[in-house]
Amino acid sequence: MQDRTKIKAILEAEESAILGKNVTVCGWIRTVRDQKSFAFIEISDGSCFSTIQAVADAKLPSYEAKIAELSTGAAIAISGEVVKSPGNKQKYEIQVSSIELFGTCPNDFPLQKKRHSFDFLRSIAHLRPRTNTQGAVARVRSRLAYATHRFFQERGFVYLQSPIITASDCEGAGELFQITTLNLDNPPRDKGKIDYKQDFFSKPAFLTVSGQLNAEAYATALSDVYTFGPTFRAENSNTSRHLAEFWMIEPEMAFANLNTVANLAEDYLKCLIQEALSCDQDMQFFNEHIDKGIIERLQHVHDSPFIRMTYTEAIDILKKSNKPFEYPVEWGSDLQSEHERYIAEEYCKKPVILTNYPKEIKAFYMRNNEDGKTVAALDVLVPKIGEIIGGSQREERYDILTKKIEAIGLDPHAYAWYLDLRKYGTVPHGGFGLGFERLVQFVTGIENIRDAIAFPRVPGQCEF
Ligand code: 4AD
Repeated sequence: MQDRTKIKAILEAEESAILGKNVTVCGWIRTVRDQKSFAFIEISDGSCFSTIQAVADAKLPSYEAKIAELSTGAAIAISGEVVKSPGNKQKYEIQVSSIELFGTCPNDFPLQKKRHSFDFLRSIAHLRPRTNTQGAVARVRSRLAYATHRFFQERGFVYLQSPIITASDCEGAGELFQITTLNLDNPPRDKGKIDYKQDFFSKPAFLTVSGQLNAEAYATALSDVYTFGPTFRAENSNTSRHLAEFWMIEPEMAFANLNTVANLAEDYLKCLIQEALSCDQDMQFFNEHIDKGIIERLQHVHDSPFIRMTYTEAIDILKKSNKPFEYPVEWGSDLQSEHERYIAEEYCKKPVILTNYPKEIKAFYMRNNEDGKTVAALDVLVPKIGEIIGGSQREERYDILTKKIEAIGLDPHAYAWYLDLRKYGTVPHGGFGLGFERLVQFVTGIENIRDAIAFPRVPGQCEF
């Protein structure tokens, strides 16, 4: 397989460099059309959106037996000369000189060439990467991950791998998956309660909801850091925007205030949009088949400044809208998805950075504002998705943070290490978290977040 050539490399090559060359293409058959004196074999190898067509002549040795074995889904290697394609669908095709069949594909293969619903494709998530949509999502997602590292590395941020297993509830919202090695049929008990001293970590442990607290420890030493890893939320939300396991990018900056955080969020989101727009063929596909006009809309978002307004201003706008919202609009209550979408989609028609939320509805680590009512929080809302980024300036004052931890019923001893960061050389700092799957949804136009990740984990489902 050493001299295998990927389809992308062939299709992108200049005529002078590729025409007449002998190549070997390895991939999976999309279709075979046997015309008796020759056969058209369309192959995909996932290197790009396009397939390549190979033309096998009946003069090939044991032609009939070979072609009879080929079918949609089979894995093959085809060798032959690259020639100009007479059709206008693509530039080049391959004149086959030999075919090697690796894996046949019986005709119960579920991905025969026809349209399948996304619901059905989720039930065969191990095979759906072979579809146009999932192939394109996977490639764009990969490029966005690459662009993320490039963006932060170019700005001098250090990539931190924060832990997956933790004893802290970063958001203080109690949406944690507990992990244990205790025998759940008969756990050890002490005075009637489960004795976690006998558990693996000698105390209850969980999957992390966010790497932020750990990122703060590194930001208060290395100045600018970012994490990029899986996070877990045991919230029973069966919506098109929630996953139980999702990936988050969390930059954290020392010597930063809310404005520094907002500027970074806008620059980062625009960089990601630009990267997505450079995925030509995949984006063309989304534009034509998934969400008409998405390329133009993303370009508009990229080219215009984001709107910035306070939570209080947003509440005023929502109240004056006279829209029949399902959830009431009241200063002090959290914005629901319908409110966020109205602000971003209908009122502003572009991303909005909402700041200074009531302190009661935001996490304990956010910095209290001087008004005594709000905290230096921000959410970035985008059309169609709603919240894509959540962040804040952090409370860097030891006494105030201790009181905030106590006020929500968390044990300050459990957060002693986090409070130490305020005791030893504290500094104004802040950051945000971007939900990677919501980003993929936003740039591809995919309706359901379960189609923006390879193997979605949601309540009641943990297949594959
Ligand atoms: O607003 P969240 O909960 O913020 C944090 O976790 C902070 N610790 C981040 C920080 O300041 N470092 O989550 C951040 C983002 C949300 O804006 C959303 O895009 C995504 O994570 N998110 C989810 N994505 C998919 N499924 C879920 N259940 C999500 N919950 C949050």
